Amino acid sequence: MTSAPVSTTEQSIRSLACIIDLERYPIHQPDNPRTQALVAQCRAQLDETGCSVVPDFIRPEAVARMRAEAYRLRERTFWSKQSHNPYMTAEDLSLPETHPKRFFERRTSGFINSDILETDSDLRALYDWDAMTRFVGACVGVWPIYQWADPLARCPYAIMEDGHYFPWHFDGNEFTISVSVEQPEQGGEFEYVPNMRSVEDESFEGVRRVLDGDRSRVHRLIWEPGALQLFKGRYSLHRVTRVEGKGAWITALPTYVLDPETVNRPERAKQFYGYAMPIHYERETTRPDRLTD
Ligand SMILES: [Fe+2]
Repeated sequence: MTSAPVSTTEQSIRSLACIIDLERYPIHQPDNPRTQALVAQCRAQLDETGCSVVPDFIRPEAVARMRAEAYRLRERTFWSKQSHNPYMTAEDLSLPETHPKRFFERRTSGFINSDILETDSDLRALYDWDAMTRFVGACVGVWPIYQWADPLARCPYAIMEDGHYFPWHFDGNEFTISVSVEQPEQGGEFEYVPNMRSVEDESFEGVRRVLDGDRSRVHRLIWEPGALQLFKGRYSLHRVTRVEGKGAWITALPTYVLDPETVNRPERAKQFYGYAMPIHYERETTRPDRLTD
């Protein structure tokens, strides 16, 4: 007796069910009341604080496989060290010394680039799944969004080890999706100040107070391995505290974009990911605008 043929969609759902806890979070069924409630909750939290966390989104076995993959690839991490201000801009000596744009801290962090992920990588499978993209778009309230053509930056692992620190900053992009893969023994905590600035008001004085150590508006979050974090970092000042001791802060960064074809400029690829590939040079000539990155 032959069994009924299994459709590609069913196969893909079965394999994704080994990665995402689809029983608890049936994101492949957008009309499922549980999915709709989850999306509504994420949207409400993002509206309120710019941050939403979905615990145990990734199954423990898949987190273990991602962690093992990251450790196998660890020696190929591209480490970068740089001093930057919260705005990631060059120092402007015409501003007073107390201006937050003149507050520079040293960052050390690394990327395991997505072009070297293994053939059977759970992270790549998760990223390439259209239902995941649709779910993220529904949660962040931005559509259409796409999986990105940039081979290095589309879904890398970010990694920080003992002594590494990611200073206070605002993001340039609208939203960031992260999956915690490993938390270190100490530190590596995500801190953020919701709605620190708005389109109308940069609130430089408020930013300065946080940089000077004011903790009154700081939210602190350790998101456990397997948790999915959705974050709108354009208006919320945020950082990752210094990693200490054994273990690493390893976070998968599935990166969804509004324009899938425009990849990083060659210089930016080299600066953050260690090298540029032919696609970075080819697409440099067809960028939609002439803005400075
Ligand atoms: Fe950020």
